[in-house]
Amino acid sequence: HKLCWLDCDPGHDDAMAIILAGHSPGLTLLGVSTVAGNQTVEKVTANALSVLAAAGLQHIDVVAGASRPLLRPAPLLCAEIHGESGLDGPLGGPVLPPAPHAAVPGKAAVVMFQRIAAAHLQLAAKGGEQRVQLIATAALTNVALLLTLFPEVIDMIEVTIMGGCLGLGNTGPVMEFNIQTDPEAARMVFESGVRLTMVPLEVTHTALVTTSVLQRVRTRHPSAFLQLTADLLSFFAETYLAVFQMPDPPLHDPCAVAWVLAPQLFKTKLMRVDVETTSVLSAGQTVCDVWNQSSAPKNCTVCMEMDAGHFWDLLIAAIHAADKQ
Ligand code: BDR
Ligand code: CA
Repeated sequence: HKLCWLDCDPGHDDAMAIILAGHSPGLTLLGVSTVAGNQTVEKVTANALSVLAAAGLQHIDVVAGASRPLLRPAPLLCAEIHGESGLDGPLGGPVLPPAPHAAVPGKAAVVMFQRIAAAHLQLAAKGGEQRVQLIATAALTNVALLLTLFPEVIDMIEVTIMGGCLGLGNTGPVMEFNIQTDPEAARMVFESGVRLTMVPLEVTHTALVTTSVLQRVRTRHPSAFLQLTADLLSFFAETYLAVFQMPDPPLHDPCAVAWVLAPQLFKTKLMRVDVETTSVLSAGQTVCDVWNQSSAPKNCTVCMEMDAGHFWDLLIAAIHAADKQ
């Protein structure tokens, strides 16, 4: 059983990451922090609260994080994929009702540190070597601040990110959106010495929302929650088709949760990964030394393949568990 914290920017795929982290028997979700990315931090924070409320997880606290990257003036935002609200549905506009509760006050890095340190104490009391799992499915601004302000956290956590790519990017020729949104923050995380796993686009592009996946989401019985979930996935499918001409969209973020939950579903390789921050052409590129040519220390476990069939079994089970609430 693992204790995890989720840092995210919901976001359709982040919403599914919240559901997987909140409704999987192998995980306890300690809390959620948000960061500007898919939409402004105000919008993604409201979305995180709405997703938790809709999924019967309103007891889980949300704390709002950074509103912009560390050095760059404004987040990229991604309305073309996630809509103006960050979580639009097929009819335009948000599909989820606003949450009845608000985010907890405080700076995200501080609240994250307090909660992670308390959870780590709990784990230490039980003996063993377990660490708190920090899963980041957005720009790494909050994570870089956490590691910088509280370096002692480095020995308490393992970080798993959805982000980066070995080859082709999605918001630049060789850049993935989360890393490209705040390259300097990503670089700080990759150079921090923290135990780090990266789930890149090459893996998330095998987690495709096919029509049969959508049918499995809907099958049990017609409920408001399953309809909302299907609406979110359908909107995501429409925008992916329009922007990337992909008939079945890749559901990136829950793949990072799946790594923490079921690492046996993945093939990995430990390697040196550096983040390009200065290039005009490719700031935000994750430069992955797959063939071990660098003399710099290996700093990242890179997921290379995932058993997508079992990934969907886990996610659909979590969606159906949320529906029972
Ligand atoms: C990542 O970018 C965001 O738009 C998604 O939520 C995901 O975290 C994929 O590149
Ligand atoms: Ca995301």
